[in-house]
Amino acid sequence: MKLLVINGPNLNMLGVREPDIYGRTTYADLCEQIEAHAEKIGVQVELYQSNHEGDLVDKIQEAYGKIDGIVINPGAYTHTSVAILDALKAVAIPAVEVHISEVDKREDFRQISYVRLACCATIAGHGLDGYLEAMDLLRERYEG
Ligand code: DQA
Repeated sequence: MKLLVINGPNLNMLGVREPDIYGRTTYADLCEQIEAHAEKIGVQVELYQSNHEGDLVDKIQEAYGKIDGIVINPGAYTHTSVAILDALKAVAIPAVEVHISEVDKREDFRQISYVRLACCATIAGHGLDGYLEAMDLLRERYEG
């Protein structure tokens, strides 16, 4: 099984950005945790981060026919991007939406998620563990 973990804008700034909300762990540390977890559960993983909406759409499209599950934290594009929603729908790869923070308890504009409409589950407010939980969910689903 091959998973793709996609992070959107400003997630490369983890560890620096608003540590009271997102913690002090860096993006590089997160990548290490994801890679270690992939090895533990016996899946292959590819990591991708971009600050650009079109690049995220391109990456999702490239996954078609190659990737069995997508873990996606689209950052702020969660709340605005019909293009990312459409890309996920187009490839129809099982996807889990992850948010480090508890988006549902934050500002009103964070209550809307377009990508959620194309995801089989959402994990929010579990910190970085949410990515690993999403990987577990997709693996269980794949194993059937
Ligand atoms: C986030 C929540 C979003 O509202 C925000 O724009 C982010 C990160 C999260 O992981 O909690 O960039 O997706």
